[in-house]
Amino acid sequence: MNQMDIVNLLIPHDRKMPAKMEGHGYAPSNIALAKYWGKRNKTLNLPITDSLSISLFDKGTSTSIEASPYTHDMVILNDREIDSDTLFAQRISHLLNLFRPDPSFYFKITTINNIPSAAGLASSASGFAALILALNDFFQWELDDKSLSILARLGSGSASRSLWHGFVEWHAGVSEDGMDSYAEKLPYQWPSLRLGILIISNREKNITSREGMNRSQQTSPFYSAWPTQVAQTMEKLHTAIKTKDIELLGSAAEQNALAMHATMLTSSPAFCYWQTETLSQIQKIWQIRNEGVPLYFTEDAGPNLKLLFTDEISDIVRSEFRDVEIIAPFHLS
Ligand code: DP6
Repeated sequence: MNQMDIVNLLIPHDRKMPAKMEGHGYAPSNIALAKYWGKRNKTLNLPITDSLSISLFDKGTSTSIEASPYTHDMVILNDREIDSDTLFAQRISHLLNLFRPDPSFYFKITTINNIPSAAGLASSASGFAALILALNDFFQWELDDKSLSILARLGSGSASRSLWHGFVEWHAGVSEDGMDSYAEKLPYQWPSLRLGILIISNREKNITSREGMNRSQQTSPFYSAWPTQVAQTMEKLHTAIKTKDIELLGSAAEQNALAMHATMLTSSPAFCYWQTETLSQIQKIWQIRNEGVPLYFTEDAGPNLKLLFTDEISDIVRSEFRDVEIIAPFHLS
């Protein structure tokens, strides 16, 4: 099975021509509490394990799509045209290849991202999810959520989780074509839950998540323990979300993130997304916690930290971390 086979299975045959002048989509960024790290199929981005995330509500990507006036795709990110040689533009064109009405049709993509790109803040997730939503609108596919999630996954695995607000679970699935590997919104609200974004560096990382997870999976002797670790995290997260238990949610997410980073440190060659400042902030979080404050973190494939806590301690978080940006994921959702 290749990506085109999946597209042919999902998209109605009479919906292959644009139905409007422009299509639009918005998708929130998401932060995994149980991480996706490792694939059972690289072409289709099928994961080894389930994963579970929380969306960042109004931090995300808005995308518009129309026909390009040129004989190439145009990608405009935050008002600047991206060079077609960059990895970013190539990944977008590669996905768009699946949806061209004919080989001489090119797209113009205009996208606004209000989160720092490539700093481990899951911008590719909201980017590919917003692109699929914009395509769905442009071609009027009228696809259901499951199909949209599968298509978003073809762009980037974590994009399968970026179609909803709140908690989202991505089922790894077992089938070879991945038709059972899609995400779903969980039916739980937690209005007092907060995420704090601690930006340590906005610089582009030099190892993509894609490369990193592949290296961990291929070379880390710790990787064999990873699926069991995720299964345990998932169980704890489900209980924590149902009972609104921040200690359980925070400790499960933090341990999961550290276990993922342990597979990186033990890869060959080893790699590490942490900067000196990342570690000093982690030690600060642990110290604050030792003083009885329920503050936790998670970290993706980048140096930045995302704090996990509830509104009761927002004032403490603000005074301890001056530049933190606090997000209420259930605000108005
Ligand atoms: C650490 O979704 O970027 O953020 O499927 O290869 O595009 P590809 O990988 P990607 O990996 C995300 C890794 C992570 C964990 C997560 O979001 O679950």
